Amino acid sequence: MAAVAAFDLYRFFHAREAETLALRGVSLTLESGELVAVVGPSGSGKSTLLTCLAGLDEPDGGHVEVLGQRLTRRPEAERARIRAAAIGVLMQSDNLIPTLTVADNVMVPMRLASCVDTTRVDLLLSRVGLTERRHARPGQLSGGELARAGLAVALAATPSVLLADEPTGEVDALTEARILEFLQAECVSGMAILIATHSVAIGARADRVVRLRDGRIVDA
Ligand SMILES: Nc1ncnc2c1ncn2[C@@H]1O[C@H](COP(=O)(O)OP(=O)(O)OP(=O)(O)O)[C@@H](O)[C@H]1O
Ligand SMILES: [Mg+2]
Repeated sequence: MAAVAAFDLYRFFHAREAETLALRGVSLTLESGELVAVVGPSGSGKSTLLTCLAGLDEPDGGHVEVLGQRLTRRPEAERARIRAAAIGVLMQSDNLIPTLTVADNVMVPMRLASCVDTTRVDLLLSRVGLTERRHARPGQLSGGELARAGLAVALAATPSVLLADEPTGEVDALTEARILEFLQAECVSGMAILIATHSVAIGARADRVVRLRDGRIVDA
């Protein structure tokens, strides 16, 4: 059974006269333990694909399955339940609750999945290099720190599927390498990881690279 699968996804956006075809028939399967990079120019549909896979957005056509369960066209409460149990999501912004500290933000998905584990909070913060910043609030963090804190939140409940949009967009090469090493270790324990990225280093270390252009998967 696939960890996550997309079947012929379409997503259109309308603004006045203009229509953007953000996804035009994208199909994709990730098995447990796979690390896949989604690459493509800005505007090619990477974030749209990730939000549809996470059930945070509904595709206009096609559907998504997570661990064999259909996620698409279900009531939001059901999608939220499936997401809390199986999916970790890091988007390009707004991953953290502004009024909570970094450590308390990491606890949120654990509470939702009924798996509070303070040892894992410490481990995650250490792995993303934020132990010293655990009591800071999101407004006090740099761009790279926000992305790393968001990644710790996405990984908090040990999801079966991690969907990460530019997790290392604003970090230096050494920090990126450390984060990648950690994500690869999570894959070995069975997590399926999809990373949208412009990073050549991530593309090189991924098991597979999926290229998007104008909302379609293209060959290398
Ligand atoms: N909510 C929206 N309303 C209108 N158009 C949108 C919306 N979200 C995305 N788009 C458009 O859909 C296309 C795909 O956007 P998307 O954010 O998926 O690209 P991306 O590959 O993630 O780009 P980047 O590398 O810059 O993050 C773009 O043309 C974008 O302008
Ligand atoms: Mg994007």
